[in-house]
Amino acid sequence: MVKIESPRIIVRRSGPLSGSVQVPGAKNSVLKLMAATLLAEGDYVLTNVPAITDVHTMAETLGALGVSSSWLGPHELSLTNSGNITPEVPFEKFDKMRASLNVLGPLLTHYGSARINWPGGDDFGGRPINLHVAGLQKMGATVEEGLYDIFAVADRLKGTNIELDIPSVGATENLLTAAIYARGVTVIDNAAREPEVQDLCNMLISMGADIEGIGTSRLIIHGCERGSLKGTKHAVVPDRVQAATYMAAVAVAGGDIVVRSARTEHMEELLNCYARMGVAVTPQRDGVRVTSHERLRAIDFITEPYPGIATDYKPLLLAMLCVSRGEGSVTETLFPGRFRYIEEFRRLGASIAIYGNKATVRGVYELIGSEVRVPDIRAGAALVVAGLVAQGETIVHDIHHIDRGYDDLVGRLSGLGADVTRV
Ligand code: UD1
Repeated sequence: MVKIESPRIIVRRSGPLSGSVQVPGAKNSVLKLMAATLLAEGDYVLTNVPAITDVHTMAETLGALGVSSSWLGPHELSLTNSGNITPEVPFEKFDKMRASLNVLGPLLTHYGSARINWPGGDDFGGRPINLHVAGLQKMGATVEEGLYDIFAVADRLKGTNIELDIPSVGATENLLTAAIYARGVTVIDNAAREPEVQDLCNMLISMGADIEGIGTSRLIIHGCERGSLKGTKHAVVPDRVQAATYMAAVAVAGGDIVVRSARTEHMEELLNCYARMGVAVTPQRDGVRVTSHERLRAIDFITEPYPGIATDYKPLLLAMLCVSRGEGSVTETLFPGRFRYIEEFRRLGASIAIYGNKATVRGVYELIGSEVRVPDIRAGAALVVAGLVAQGETIVHDIHHIDRGYDDLVGRLSGLGADVTRV
């Protein structure tokens, strides 16, 4: 019998890297933009859409709700909301993504009720939804959290003042979209300020919404008449985490590359960290030039909500610390369970100790190729990056996680001269 092996990525020691790489649109934006099409009948075109499996999963979920979609080109997605929406995600649509929670706000505010399955996504330990629920309740909704699904109902939501305990990205987005057709004004304080939240606000405005305070911690949403928004065309913001990945690759492997369409203003804290570690980062007209010629220097950093160091960058920074000179650390403030991939780095010979929510890394000159398993999207990309500076061959399994959020990671790294193949 022929044994069929699942796809894997093989990485060999590489560098110096050279050339340029184009940054695709952001996963953490496009999925929310797609969900926002539930807010109004009409035709939508999203450009700069990344070719990732989560986009297909979201398109399937929207299809089950009544929004159809088709590709106009490799990175251009057309969606049509013809008004025939069933505000219930079918039970058999097993949920693989956190972002599927984002259909809740639009469905509830437009159709008066919503039933969704419990969201899936990367397993970072507990991922509660209490802020989403409390905010919707404050807007007048009744929310039932069942064993398998979440049901919310409200004839018409009402504008109110909501102060989030944590600037949660998902809760800000859900409450923001719910507020679009609420009666009166909704104020969200301690709102998330991430570029992807701003991108959603900008698309909502182009659909006809009235939002003030974009990019600040206070969002003010003036409710509109139900169904008064319209379809639009919108370009997805470039993905700062994918951009950071190619920068991390050249940082560890050495070389001189240009990361095109990287928005440096969205990555200031991260770029400071890269610079402190010895990576030269020079903004250019459409992107950034990144050069690295020396062994990196270890530093300490802490993950924080935007504009701080995003938790999504953390595995990349850890990969860099693994081969830096000296001892550095990372303290996680957002998802305490987000250290599960450390064991995989250790398989590559990394020297990492965990104390509570802090990982301390003693850099080694180079890692040792081995077989590793990908536990989540960002850790997967970071393991591939680590493989670039490991002796011999690193075989990366469970790469479906990487495919959820990375548009052709292997092709893009190979284009920079890295020895990476997918088999
Ligand atoms: C989003 C991103 C994820 C990123 C994270 C933080 C998507 C699809 N995912 O996830 O890649 O790592 O932002 O930048 O965009 N929290 C609560 N109660 C809630 C909601 C959140 O306590 O109701 C807590 C979480 O447990 C966590 C913190 O708030 O400690 C931040 O989570 P949040 O910003 O909501 O992350 P997500 O939107 O799930």
